[in-house]
Amino acid sequence: MDNDIKERIKYLVDLLNKANIEYYINDNPTLTDNEFDSLLDELIKLENKYPKYKLDNSPTSKVGTSVISEFQKVEHPTPMFSLSDVFNEEEVRSFGKRVEKEISNPEFVCELKMDGLAVSLIYKNGKFVSAATRGDGRVGEDITNNVKTIKMLPLTLKEDIDLEVRGEIYMEYSVFEKLNEERERDGLQLFQNPRNAAAGSIRQLDSSITKSRNLSMLLYHLPNTNLSTHYETLELLKRVGLPTNPNTKLCKNIDEVLEYINYWSIHRPELEYPIDGIVIKVNDIASQRILGSTAKYPRWAIAYKFPAEEVVTRLDDIVCTVGRTGQITPNAVLEPVKVAGSTIRRATLHNAKYIEEKDLRIGDFVVIRKAGDVIPEVVRPVIERRENVTSYIMIDRCPICETRLVYSASKIDLICPNVNCPARNVNSLIHFAERDAMNIDGLGEKMMEDFYNMGFIKDITDIYKLKSRREEIIELEGYGNKSVDNLENSIENSKNNSLERLLNGLGISGIGLKTARVLARKYESIDNIINASLEELESIKDIGHILALNIREYFDNENNLKLINELKELGINMNYLGQKVIQDENFTNKKFVITGTISFMSRDEIKALIESRGGEAIDSVSKKTNVVIVGENPGSKYDKALKLNIEIWDEEKFKSLI
Ligand code: IVH
Repeated sequence: MDNDIKERIKYLVDLLNKANIEYYINDNPTLTDNEFDSLLDELIKLENKYPKYKLDNSPTSKVGTSVISEFQKVEHPTPMFSLSDVFNEEEVRSFGKRVEKEISNPEFVCELKMDGLAVSLIYKNGKFVSAATRGDGRVGEDITNNVKTIKMLPLTLKEDIDLEVRGEIYMEYSVFEKLNEERERDGLQLFQNPRNAAAGSIRQLDSSITKSRNLSMLLYHLPNTNLSTHYETLELLKRVGLPTNPNTKLCKNIDEVLEYINYWSIHRPELEYPIDGIVIKVNDIASQRILGSTAKYPRWAIAYKFPAEEVVTRLDDIVCTVGRTGQITPNAVLEPVKVAGSTIRRATLHNAKYIEEKDLRIGDFVVIRKAGDVIPEVVRPVIERRENVTSYIMIDRCPICETRLVYSASKIDLICPNVNCPARNVNSLIHFAERDAMNIDGLGEKMMEDFYNMGFIKDITDIYKLKSRREEIIELEGYGNKSVDNLENSIENSKNNSLERLLNGLGISGIGLKTARVLARKYESIDNIINASLEELESIKDIGHILALNIREYFDNENNLKLINELKELGINMNYLGQKVIQDENFTNKKFVITGTISFMSRDEIKALIESRGGEAIDSVSKKTNVVIVGENPGSKYDKALKLNIEIWDEEKFKSLI
């Protein structure tokens, strides 16, 4: 009897922990809310009655549990400031002059600006107590359990002191590359850069996932100290056993600061971790207090941001790919080279005109530029090093189906006109499953290509018939019962997507998620769109004549109607499930720009929310922008908004208005 109870408790703990992971991390609920609640209730009752059988990893225990439902908000004892950015020597010098106006002969400490996410740690009596993200600077999120998994974190200091200490959590390049290789293999979306990977890893609800991500951490700031210089605070941190960056320098004047900047601009590629600039701090803490701070930034420190990084590598070849609409894109095949934190092997060359204008030839040494998250670009050939090169002649037949190519309406791009071209088909399928479309997690590019080549998925409807191939898939290398279960669940879940995702997924020319949302919201069901006249469609703001023609052309095509009917029969939702536009004076008819990370909502969710209240989310800040929503680590859009005096909403304000 006792054994039965023990078994049952273990079973429930495993089941509920697994369900939590699926729900919170994989976005893939495996139990209904009712099932979850009643199983949890059963577990709580059993644990209360038989406390000796309660397991350490039970989802009912808060401390030590590997899965928590969400991060607690915590107020920072001292607010966490961000830094204002400068981009060139002149701006660094004018910072020096501003300081010198109030402080005579200031000394500066120069540090590498780690490209990760800011963290605040609390130690009491030499013992680690808690860790929090920056959040909006005043309130962050409690990430204590996850920070505990970072190997560089000492749980006990060498001295019994109380500290509130700030630093950066980041991911080394080698860890980042390995992680992305694994994700590629598993068909998961790749992280754009080590910073995103670090941020994504620290915001895991399961600490064991954070642990497996091998994060690093360095500390660089004590907001409250009795010591007289910043340099001494760094020495204190080191002395008590906290990890600090050894590449820090005390500079006597701005010329020495500029020397440091120049040194690291050249030697940056030798580092094993990403940095995006240099932080310059006034050393004397009494002087820091005199200089004070603005609402957001200290006046005693700035961040010098590196310009986009450029490297030279060889253009080994130019190969063309075929997009889902048949568009032919020439791509540079490059001798692999590291730029701004990632290894670049390919870069788009857009079209034949681009190759011609830049005078790129196969065998050329070329300059590659990449800044932060931006896609790498081929800037120019290094003419001085040109020898043994061959001119590229643009292809005139599809590299996949060999159909003769035609020019697009722009007369610049070439198109494969064959609607049955395998490359077009597979790319359409990949697009259908993508995050912004039907969001079928696990059915990534590589898997879709494999399934297409094996004949498992020939068209969209086959995705929803994949269950019948279960045995065949399990036999393939790398697919176990569990991964096939996950895949089947994601496919099943995608049937309940709101209409706009399906509309985007269908690949109607020119219709992305944003326009799809406009259509879905207006017409509410696919049948209403099918029956909408050209005149009606083109009268919709954001649609216009060309898109209206594309929509009509798509729905006038018998094959497309057949596809939609089959999808209906397979149980795919064809209705809009979101809210109708509600009037809200804070949003309606206003243009919004979002910069930085908002902790409680993704970009897409914020955009959807803005649109659901009659506002518009746009990409760049101009005088026409009404509001800039500023999250953690904002980009240059924030500075531009300040310059143009545009209304700013921080996370708190945004939250209060929604
Ligand atoms: S000092 C009041 N030092 O850069 C001073 N920040 O753009 C607070 N960062 O939020 C920051 N390396 O996340 C400082 N050596 C360093 C840094 C550093 C990276 C980050 C930090 C901060 C952001 C500001």
